[in-house]
Amino acid sequence: MDKQRPEQTLVLIKPDALKNSLTGYVLSQLSEFHTGLRFAGLKVVHVSKMLAGEHYSEHRDKVFFPSLIDYIIGRIHYPDEPWKHRVIAIVYQGPDATKKIRDIAGPTNPHIARDEKPGCIRALGTVVPIKEAGGNVIGDRMDNLIHASATDSEAEREIKLWFKPNDIPPLMHAYPTEVSDTYYYFKDNKLYPNHEPGSMCFLVPGDVAWRSDLETLRLLNQGHPAPYSLEAVVAKHLINEKQDNQ
Ligand code: GTP
Ligand code: MG
Repeated sequence: MDKQRPEQTLVLIKPDALKNSLTGYVLSQLSEFHTGLRFAGLKVVHVSKMLAGEHYSEHRDKVFFPSLIDYIIGRIHYPDEPWKHRVIAIVYQGPDATKKIRDIAGPTNPHIARDEKPGCIRALGTVVPIKEAGGNVIGDRMDNLIHASATDSEAEREIKLWFKPNDIPPLMHAYPTEVSDTYYYFKDNKLYPNHEPGSMCFLVPGDVAWRSDLETLRLLNQGHPAPYSLEAVVAKHLINEKQDNQ
């Protein structure tokens, strides 16, 4: 890792942890006293389908993907209370942030967590069978209470996905930023340089953005492949925006 920049990592306190009132427990397990890590960013997020899909994009082809999306959005734990569909997204900063938090979180599967690492956070999770319409079990869902970035490069991708630079104190920015000199609009999964009826303006000149996001937008505007997807750039700008389909 670049010696100049601080190590940061993303934690999500997932809907099952919120429902079971485990937020305080998780924060206390990850507190500076235990980990030596500091808060760099924190927000309550109503997770959109776009954000959920981008966050778990590596699992898009897996059989458990639809249930994973329903889970992180909050539909599983609050089926009739959409206003409770939230996760708490946190950026922690400090030496070995990713490794320290992964250790305290424990193995992905809560059954394995209980066997192999009693006392870790995910030992308090559950594994739930997924049934098809006929009632046959076709897989399982791992309700494991928190997400924790797996590697430093995953942490970078995820922090840039969930947080805008200005969600993080300027002296704690770990990744390069740049000031936009252009307007960018979004509608129906497409990027527009000018206002279209029904489009959303997500960046205006003067806004501070991740440099990699602006590079992505410039490349996409020219029809070239880009380091990130358009959805990964836009999703954070739509966090907690009221949208018709929610
Ligand atoms: P996260 O911190 O949530 O990213 O977990 P992880 O890094 O320990 O695991 P990974 O990124 O591989 O998987 C992301 C999420 O997908 C997990 O938290 C699980 O909820 C779910 N998941 C991963 N692998 C499986 C699997 O084999 N079966 C099922 N049912 N769910 C899985
Ligand atoms: Mg992961």
